[in-house]
Amino acid sequence: MQIPANLKHQGVIQWVQDMIALTKPKAVHWVDGSQEEYDKLCDLLVESGTFIRLNPEKRPNSFLARSDPSDVARVEERTFICSVNKNDAGPTNNWVNPKEMHETLNRLFDGCMAGRTMYIIPFSMGPIGSPIAQIGVQITDSAYVVTNMRIMARVSTQVWDVLGEDGTFVPCMHSVGAPLAEGQQDVPWPCQPDIKNKYIVHFPEERSIWSYGSGYGGNALLGKKCLALRIASVMAHDEGWLAEHMLILGVEDPNGEKTYVAAAFPSACGKTNFAMLVPPKEMEGWKVTTVGDDIAWIKPGPDGRLYAINPEAGFFGVAPGTNYKTNPNAMKSLEANTIFTNVALTDDGDVWWEGMDGPPPAHAIDWQGNDWTPDCGRKAAHPNSRFTAPASQCPSIDPEWENPNGVLIQAFIFGGRRATTIPLVYQSFNWNYGVYVGATLGSEQTAAAIGSNVGVVRRDPFAMLPFVGYHVASYFNHWLRIGRIISDPPRIFSVNWFRKDSEGNYLWPGFGDNMRVLKWIVERVHGRAVSVESAIGWMPRYEDIDWRGSDFTLEQFTELMSIEADEWKQELASQEEFFIKIYDRLPKELMAVRELLLSSLWRSPAHWEVFHSTETPHNNS
Ligand code: GTP
Ligand code: SPV
Ligand code: MN
Repeated sequence: MQIPANLKHQGVIQWVQDMIALTKPKAVHWVDGSQEEYDKLCDLLVESGTFIRLNPEKRPNSFLARSDPSDVARVEERTFICSVNKNDAGPTNNWVNPKEMHETLNRLFDGCMAGRTMYIIPFSMGPIGSPIAQIGVQITDSAYVVTNMRIMARVSTQVWDVLGEDGTFVPCMHSVGAPLAEGQQDVPWPCQPDIKNKYIVHFPEERSIWSYGSGYGGNALLGKKCLALRIASVMAHDEGWLAEHMLILGVEDPNGEKTYVAAAFPSACGKTNFAMLVPPKEMEGWKVTTVGDDIAWIKPGPDGRLYAINPEAGFFGVAPGTNYKTNPNAMKSLEANTIFTNVALTDDGDVWWEGMDGPPPAHAIDWQGNDWTPDCGRKAAHPNSRFTAPASQCPSIDPEWENPNGVLIQAFIFGGRRATTIPLVYQSFNWNYGVYVGATLGSEQTAAAIGSNVGVVRRDPFAMLPFVGYHVASYFNHWLRIGRIISDPPRIFSVNWFRKDSEGNYLWPGFGDNMRVLKWIVERVHGRAVSVESAIGWMPRYEDIDWRGSDFTLEQFTELMSIEADEWKQELASQEEFFIKIYDRLPKELMAVRELLLSSLWRSPAHWEVFHSTETPHNNS
């Protein structure tokens, strides 16, 4: 075996040798991260039928992959946190005794790479060599995974230099779980089709990851959810920082003042769109820049305030609904050098998905490789079809996006997909109440996870339900603790872009119009925007929002912002149900906030008329 010249870490070498002995690959390839290597792997994937090269005139250096129909999203029911003690994983995670799980994995991985090439990927989450970055080494038998990892993480032999002889790395073991017998023909998307044979496993104490049976997204690109969220959340808890499922964006006001905010929305609930927001042109002088669209690592800086970095290098974004109107920056990010998975192929060799600009093509090949016409009654692209595109291609990318010291976070925003109950925006009264808002976040489930009840509301605290690598109530406590150790804590807000009227139409235009809400948030942070007090938090009145270029009426706004006491009592009951599940470790602060909330809703009129309040509005940021 030809070990890279600058790899001096015996731990890595020994681990790789052990994994070769276990999985018995046909060949071993140490990934160097070069363009030349990437191009060769893409050619190989085209040859093997995994990739279709798109029309180079329309979509240069870009490819389409179609997954196995069983392998289209994260598998939450097969995701495990194998801590030594069951209660450290908590009731929201699947747990198996680590010893037993290791036995299972050793059995599954025994010979699992037969007939395949093993790739060894050195990668850094965060800029290579930066003090906040974490190093991972992923072993995989999927060239598709290698090409995607090269876009999503910093893949380079420089990582071996940084690791030196005794650096720390997270071993990330991955196999699609489809060994090839001598002479057996491969398929375009090898995997274990039966969900029960997929395993996404984390050992928080060992800080290692084992993933088996899936080649898709967060199941297989192990730097992302597995390392940067589940393992990193454990590190963050131990070391006093935060690893969050959050976008990071910068807002520049007409005076050039820059404010960074981080926002947690559950999977497929608008992080990519919000991170790349283009303000309505009438809101002259306001500009949004993108630091990250999915994950934030947030640490107290020398001044005691919170600074965030995006540990990723690319976007793995939801394709459907993305177009030049809803998200022009995303569309421009994926004009070249992009890998598309499970979208439709047009007759001229380009891609298409539901909600792209213009009329649907008269004919296309759908995500399963079948002929598709607009009237065929099927979706052309899978609802969780995605693009993998380099962040550097995003026109709105922030100049500070690779600053190893991160950007100063001045507001946190929590938002779910809620047809009822939750108003467009409100500000929490204080940090602890804000933690309560995050902890009780609810959202309608989306296609981002297999087996989800799409549309059914579930509690998704901090948008981290599938990603907290330990007991979720201890995670809440960690957030409360952070509030006590930092100075000038960010203000905390709740938003909901997805409220609907009785006919099921969205009440809020969303997308670029979200700038109106973001502007109010930023001005609240700086103590410049007016709000009124409601039972659930501080809220803008109609006249406190910038409506330039909009015909949104007071009536519409009133409906969108209404707090219905009956709905809120139901909401609190559902929150309590969740709290009861995690009661053994639930911080008492959250129970106290709940009691306060309940009492203020109790004494409120059935319908809250905050926007016609005769009270003098006060500036109470
Ligand atoms: P993950 O990558 O899964 O973590 O999700 P994400 O939060 O980045 O999801 P993304 O931004 O890709 O959300 C995609 C879906 O949200 C698409 O269906 C969009 O059309 C929809 N969406 C985004 N922003 C808005 C909005 O402001 N209003 C409405 N109604 N839909 C939106
Ligand atoms: C999510 O589901 O939140 C994603 C996509 O960002 S995946 O990487 O597949 O987890
Ligand atoms: Mn995500």
